[in-house]
Amino acid sequence: MKNIRGIVFDLYGTLFDVHSVAAACDACHPGRGREISVMWRQKQLEYTWLRSLMADYVDFEQVTHDALVFASRQLQLPLDEAARAALCEEYLKIKPYPEVPEALARLQAMGLPLAILSNGSVNSIRSVVAASGLVLRFKHLISADDAQIFKPHGSVYMLAEQQLSCDRSELLFVSSNAWDASGARHFGYPVCWINRAGNAFDELGQSPDHVVQELDQLADWMAVQQIASRS
Ligand code: LAC
Repeated sequence: MKNIRGIVFDLYGTLFDVHSVAAACDACHPGRGREISVMWRQKQLEYTWLRSLMADYVDFEQVTHDALVFASRQLQLPLDEAARAALCEEYLKIKPYPEVPEALARLQAMGLPLAILSNGSVNSIRSVVAASGLVLRFKHLISADDAQIFKPHGSVYMLAEQQLSCDRSELLFVSSNAWDASGARHFGYPVCWINRAGNAFDELGQSPDHVVQELDQLADWMAVQQIASRS
């Protein structure tokens, strides 16, 4: 992998922990927080894929709300509209994984423009990044709203090469979601998969170019790449 001129990150589950919401879910239904959060995330993802296939786009905040309604009905754990609104608000404040702030600072110090390319809406991406205090790390915050369809559709991946004015071969795409890493690799980005959970990679005919467990290992690896490209 040579001549990387920028890094494009997925947001949910990659830089930020979607299960940050489990504590707030637990406050609504003690002992069930993690279960709610896991089903909520799974349905949220499914609804993005299904709405893309149906060509019936609604933004990520709507999908997130709908997935929560489904999860509470499926688990037979009642949530009134106020509780749902409060939990969806929590989704706008999910936390970065612990190593992320320092690793982003190191990557930025290497002189590489950093971007987020997310299925999140413009508002949800801005809210999450602002709440974490990491706004200054990113040159671009790119939302699937601009394509009116969700990843892994190619027209979403295309937004990053357009906005960063680079060829896709020059942008490293980083995701913890194997389906997203596969979609980006299929589109033509070199890909780093962050495999925090020790999962198997998806069987979608693609393989990541590089695998790390946490983002600080990507910063270590990029530092080595930069030294090698100078010599
Ligand atoms: C993202 C989610 C879907 O695009 O992981 O940020």
